[in-house]
Amino acid sequence: MFGLRRAVADDSSRIWEVRRQAIQVGCREYYSQEDIRRWASAPLYAEFPAMVELTEFYVIADAERIAAFGNLDLSKSEIGAMFVHPDFQGSGLGRRILSTLEEIAVKPGLSSLSLVATLNAEPFYAAAGFLPRECTKWKHPLGFELDCVPMYKTWAR
Ligand SMILES: CC(C)(COP(=O)(O)OP(=O)(O)OC[C@H]1O[C@@H](n2cnc3c(N)ncnc32)[C@H](O)[C@@H]1OP(=O)(O)O)[C@@H](O)C(=O)NCCC(=O)NCCS
Repeated sequence: MFGLRRAVADDSSRIWEVRRQAIQVGCREYYSQEDIRRWASAPLYAEFPAMVELTEFYVIADAERIAAFGNLDLSKSEIGAMFVHPDFQGSGLGRRILSTLEEIAVKPGLSSLSLVATLNAEPFYAAAGFLPRECTKWKHPLGFELDCVPMYKTWAR
């Protein structure tokens, strides 16, 4: 049975595989084949396992599979990643992780969160109360650019 837990560095390669498949299926109608290929095939970078440990990084998983993950960087007040395996997209796992990260953000007294949404994910974040800014280009560390929507949410402290 799937449960929500904090991710550990050893999860990194399975997390990266969920990311790859989530992009290939969830984003394919919004980006060119070439953009999907470059983005999904980006290799797991050396600093990623440390980032998993150092940020608020959560997975929904059972003993064998990771179904979804998301992370919050409290130092930047930013949701950094949110990916659900294609087998489970649209079944509420993304919302569960996002709610968890929002609850964590409230505790140290943050009053806003920002993120950069893929075009396909904008309605998901909008349904959770995030507001869009003007569409812009997100520059991937490998050099290519993707259309995206910066979004933010504020709340009273
Ligand atoms: C975007 C993503 C994280 C959303 O997670 P998910 O588990 O599929 O979404 P949920 O099932 O939790 O959806 C929660 C709510 O968001 C809304 N929503 C989600 N996707 C939506 C869509 N494409 N259009 C409109 N509303 C949507 C719905 O209101 C839904 O509530 P409902 O069940 O009452 O209809 C997931 O689909 C994914 O990994 N996509 C591919 C990768 C990606 O783009 N990641 C985001 C990078 S910024």
